[in-house]
Amino acid sequence: MNTYLIASDATTLELLRSTVQSQSLTVKSALVRAEGQLLMPLLQNLEVGILVVCSGQAQKTEDLDALESMTWANPKISVILISDSDTKEDLVRAMRSGVREVVASPPAQNDLIAALSRVVAHHEKIRTSEDGYVGSGKIVAFISCKGGSGSTFLAANTAHLIADTFNRRCVLVDLDLQYGDASYYMSQDGVKNNISDLTQQIDRLDAQLLNSCMHSISPRLNLLAAPDEAGVALAITANQLEQVLTLAKRMHEFVLLDLDSTIDALTLKALDMADVVYVAMECNLPVVRNAKRLVKLFRSLGYGDDKLRLLVNKYQEDGLLDVKSIEQAVGIKVHHTIPNQFAAVNEAFNLGKPLELLHPQNGVLTALRDITASLLHTPLPKARGWMDRWMRKAA
Ligand SMILES: Nc1ncnc2c1ncn2[C@@H]1O[C@H](COP(=O)(O)OP(=O)(O)OP(=O)(O)O)[C@@H](O)[C@H]1O
Ligand SMILES: [Mg+2]
Repeated sequence: MNTYLIASDATTLELLRSTVQSQSLTVKSALVRAEGQLLMPLLQNLEVGILVVCSGQAQKTEDLDALESMTWANPKISVILISDSDTKEDLVRAMRSGVREVVASPPAQNDLIAALSRVVAHHEKIRTSEDGYVGSGKIVAFISCKGGSGSTFLAANTAHLIADTFNRRCVLVDLDLQYGDASYYMSQDGVKNNISDLTQQIDRLDAQLLNSCMHSISPRLNLLAAPDEAGVALAITANQLEQVLTLAKRMHEFVLLDLDSTIDALTLKALDMADVVYVAMECNLPVVRNAKRLVKLFRSLGYGDDKLRLLVNKYQEDGLLDVKSIEQAVGIKVHHTIPNQFAAVNEAFNLGKPLELLHPQNGVLTALRDITASLLHTPLPKARGWMDRWMRKAA
């Protein structure tokens, strides 16, 4: 397995190198970081493997921010942080930034070996796992301030981008349990199984059962559909939902939720579990009022503004409300606007295909690509060639 070593001085670098090699691991790159040198530029182009990095007190916050961005963008890198701070707060902050192991500085060889072997075991588990990803994916919820604002369309097309453009394992879970229609945005084929097939046999829930109830939309994209009968949906409990989402997150790097705009116990459970909540709104006064109420509710539930991202959908530059007045009225920054493109969006819906396949240059997609790149903390991949797009369209 590859390792990437970043040390604060030459002696520590040699210790890291000899320890890593004593464990039969390959040193892919090894460097000493000068005092004050930013970490972020050194984290580009890492592939799969283990990053061992020293971080001093002075650059702690900057380094953890850089590591958080990198681990979001590249979950296949496990980080061992060598730190001179061992307070509980710092350990929690490091773990939140995606660090797998913290070793006290200066590092003792035994501690390093123990941390390396735990991380190698973790990688081994991922590699041999039948369900692909065994980690802790992110939950990303989409909710409309008012029915019809576009949460299903946005969730479905973001899911396609995450899986097909950014190459991450993703599942879209349709949690509009009564009237779910996400499957129509994803495919023209009917869906046989849905979430209630899991919740009705929750005691048997495992990776195999979840796999058998999801629909494979493309190699990295699954759909877990909503029940086809409203009565069945009513029997699903918040506790069952929690178990399903916890498992989905072990099997996918991103779990996208399309939520019903009515707030009930199930929606609240999903919102609580979400790492990011996209709030979709249209630009008209009744929706602005709803958006304001929703944001107020989320704040009262303790959600920070970094968790909430306001999306103004069907936005028209020459409309009655501009971004500034929406921000003033709702009391939160607009994360992104998405233009109003009825014909293209409607065609994608009617054909059950991602907009990316039908109209890759559409302004709606430009916005969604930006939103996805920012969610994944990663730059946009290079545009696909016409041949690739044509082959996918023909498939
Ligand atoms: N950017 C856009 N431009 C034009 N039309 C759009 C756009 N986004 C969504 N739509 C259309 O708006 C309608 C509502 O979208 P969608 O079903 O995604 O909303 P929703 O919030 O999930 O609604 P519901 O409350 O019914 O679940 C659909 O016909 C969809 O095609
Ligand atoms: Mg919907």
